[in-house]
Amino acid sequence: MTTITNEGNTRRSLQQQFLGMPTADGDGVKLTRIIGSPQINFLDPFLLLDCFESEDANDYIGGFPAHPHRGFETVTYLLNGRMRHKDNAGHEGLIESGGVQWMTAAKGIIHSEMPEQEAGLLKGFQLWVNLPASAKMGAPKYQEFPPQSTPLECHDNGTEIRVISGTTNQGTVGPVVNHHTYPTFLDVSLPADTEFEQSLPTAHNAFIYVIEGDIRVIADADDSVDASNNQLMAKKLGVLTQGDELVITSGQKGTRFLLIAGQPLHEPIARGGPFVMNTKAEVLQAFADFNQGNF
Ligand code: CO
Repeated sequence: MTTITNEGNTRRSLQQQFLGMPTADGDGVKLTRIIGSPQINFLDPFLLLDCFESEDANDYIGGFPAHPHRGFETVTYLLNGRMRHKDNAGHEGLIESGGVQWMTAAKGIIHSEMPEQEAGLLKGFQLWVNLPASAKMGAPKYQEFPPQSTPLECHDNGTEIRVISGTTNQGTVGPVVNHHTYPTFLDVSLPADTEFEQSLPTAHNAFIYVIEGDIRVIADADDSVDASNNQLMAKKLGVLTQGDELVITSGQKGTRFLLIAGQPLHEPIARGGPFVMNTKAEVLQAFADFNQGNF
């Protein structure tokens, strides 16, 4: 295969790969922590990525009962199943397969996310996206899109791209708007031995999480990255180098993966459970405000 790069463009390559860590959160929901683990604590502006996947209701039925957040955004994206979201501001919505809820917690929200099913496969992701200091104490906001509002771009070669945020190379624009970190969030399915290209802002941090199958990240021919290290298998997180072009090929079984990128904030991060601020004092203030019923 010949790969041609326009002069001046830089291909991204696979920098590091990680296997998630099994854990539990909420009321005993079994999940895999992919970002936010001891191995990769954060990938600015992304603070956490969890994958939950089970056909056994005992693994998820407890859901995520009421809990607070401050200082960032939580994104729930479902591949299978249904979850109901409710919060203390009276907001309620059902998140379904192919749909997304992008919640800007900002100065504070108390919400619950509970499975709207008692059996069958529940599979999806939660991503935490940081907010800059200037927006951490802003008003909470929701961007909620059912599956029919998240465009599915289909190519003649069988490629399917569910566009949550950002713009594909063919110009499909995702519905989620974010003027803090300008995220790209694509759910990409490729048939066997298929090439996929996506432009990304050069300085954005980007990662791939392989849901099924395997991929290769095709870097420039003269790139110093060893070509034998460019393969990413299912259930692995691949952190990409910086650059403005990404070229991926699928393996013999085809693949499905998330491609997520965002503008790094380059700010100090102070974590305290469900609060992510810039300083420890701000985290302690968040606990005080929550305990005093000020959320
Ligand atoms: Co939450």
